[in-house]
Amino acid sequence: MPAVPESSVGAADEAVENDYDSFAEGYTAETETNLINGYYARPAIVDLAGDVAGRQVLDAGCGSGPIFAALRERGAIVTGFDSSAKMVELARRRLGTDAALRVADIGSPLPFPDGAFDDVVASLVLHYLKDWTAPLAELRRVLKPGGRLIMSVNHSRPCNT
Ligand SMILES: C[S@@+](CC[C@H](N)C(=O)[O-])C[C@H]1O[C@@H](n2cnc3c(N)ncnc32)[C@H](O)[C@@H]1O
Repeated sequence: MPAVPESSVGAADEAVENDYDSFAEGYTAETETNLINGYYARPAIVDLAGDVAGRQVLDAGCGSGPIFAALRERGAIVTGFDSSAKMVELARRRLGTDAALRVADIGSPLPFPDGAFDDVVASLVLHYLKDWTAPLAELRRVLKPGGRLIMSVNHSRPCNT
């Protein structure tokens, strides 16, 4: 059985797809080394980020923290947040008690000061939002002038209509 429900079309299904608390462990295990996440999406984001040594990076929708870990290994000072308490718990297990992690929703005002980060990474999270206006403004607020938003979203599903 897949960790994440497949083939959704309606609002109720979309809500289930984003209920990471209910499938956090399964999603984390499945995506650790699978083709799309482990060998495509995550390496692409880390490559895009490039040399992050010494940079303050916000991992928005950090999940269980695989990108946080990769960027930290490369010398970044990383802060992560996710709306799923369970995903944050798994991230803490991976990253240790000292990791800067919190539960927060990208659709609400973020608990960070203006200009706190050199980069924001938002990997496979923004497609969950219906309206990006306020979230993008909020990410802009927490970035330093000239800061970078490094993001990816799910590709739209194939359809035959
Ligand atoms: C597909 S996972 C990606 C996790 C991680 N960024 C990665 O690339 O491995 C999507 C994550 O976004 C989180 N998420 C979804 N909607 C969110 C929101 N409104 N605010 C913060 N996090 C959200 C989910 O809880 C989940 O952990």
